[in-house]
Amino acid sequence: MKNNEKLIEQAKNILYKNDVDGYTVPTHGLYPFQWNWDAAITALGWMKFDEPRAWQELEFLISGQWEDGMIPHILFHKESDTYFPGPDVWGSDKLVKSTSISQPPVLTTIVKMLFEEAKDAELRDEKLAKILPSLIQYHLWWYRDRDPETTGLVVSYHPWESGMDNSPAWDSALDAVPQVTWEYQRQDLNHIDASERPHKEQYDRYLYLVEFFKNKHFDSNDIYRDCPYKANDVSLISILQRATLDLLALCKQLNVTGPDIESLKVSVGLTKNAINDLWCEETSFFYSKDLITNSLCKVKTNAGFLTLFGELANDEQAEKLAKEAVEWMSASAYAMASTDPRESKYEPQRYWRGPVWLHINWMIALGLELNGYSETAAQVKEKTDILFKKSKYFEYFNAETGEGCGGDNFSWTAAIALHWLL
Ligand code: DGY
Repeated sequence: MKNNEKLIEQAKNILYKNDVDGYTVPTHGLYPFQWNWDAAITALGWMKFDEPRAWQELEFLISGQWEDGMIPHILFHKESDTYFPGPDVWGSDKLVKSTSISQPPVLTTIVKMLFEEAKDAELRDEKLAKILPSLIQYHLWWYRDRDPETTGLVVSYHPWESGMDNSPAWDSALDAVPQVTWEYQRQDLNHIDASERPHKEQYDRYLYLVEFFKNKHFDSNDIYRDCPYKANDVSLISILQRATLDLLALCKQLNVTGPDIESLKVSVGLTKNAINDLWCEETSFFYSKDLITNSLCKVKTNAGFLTLFGELANDEQAEKLAKEAVEWMSASAYAMASTDPRESKYEPQRYWRGPVWLHINWMIALGLELNGYSETAAQVKEKTDILFKKSKYFEYFNAETGEGCGGDNFSWTAAIALHWLL
């Protein structure tokens, strides 16, 4: 069997192995439920060899949508005792048990890609007719609930909502959050070495926020007013912008019109105007913002490059980012590190503080391409390919050694590989 064929076979087998009656767990044990952005990325992989299964993944995810339009970050479809914090700690009373926060909505971008790739047009049209209204409600929710003052920049309430949980960008904002004092048993450390996971001080604060949402009965107004952690996450904002642009393109193609669509058009315009609030002229980079202290989270992370994916950077900013990407790639043996390897907070092996993530590289490469930097995009892709060829399908990779870290047999890594290899 040729090398690529073997890799494709292995990647497909990972998706089969992680399939739990219609949805895909990121990896068994460590993450035994359905995660929002994992599910979306995973559908991209399924699409390469099983179209119905790709649509099914997304339908499962949307089955957990709240009445207000929010699609949660984790859906606890079935019970499992290998993960903490589970549904009891989150305390939501929805039909499909879930967390009460969301995740970067790359889902809509993936739906547009599936729509364009689909060979079975009848199935595509049937699925899209079901999915599209939910996506519109999801996007309206982001702008209504998470930007009640119409600033153009949505607010995020938990590092887990960014998906980049342990990024050094959140350090000072998270330090201001109280720590829970009750005892709890982490499960992640039963699966993964502590050197690759967040510290207890961070978990204490993650859990404080989870309890805070529950104590506020998930009321949007109260949470917006009182939450001790509020951030304009540049990654989430960029992915939302890309996704809303893609949603509008889909609606146009399908002749879906009306006030909701007009309102989404206004929102993308507002974000485009507001994004400079997250740009630092001095360091020529985009950062997230801590809204409690009203200051930029000045650690360079891969989140800043995603503004290219969201078509939010202007030409001058895009040029600086493309140049920065090249420098960044040459500063660590494997690229793109999730934290700038020249930053003092860079840790090449610890969760989101340095390692390389395939799905982020995929978005960075697309963003570079969209902005006319095809050569740099190709370089990112090439460097990403090396990782799964060398170290197989891990959750993330050490930016210095290229070794696989976190969960093994990981769905989104397999899915991006399938998307690229096929
Ligand atoms: C975890 O539990 O580490 C997850 O990343 C939360 O989404």
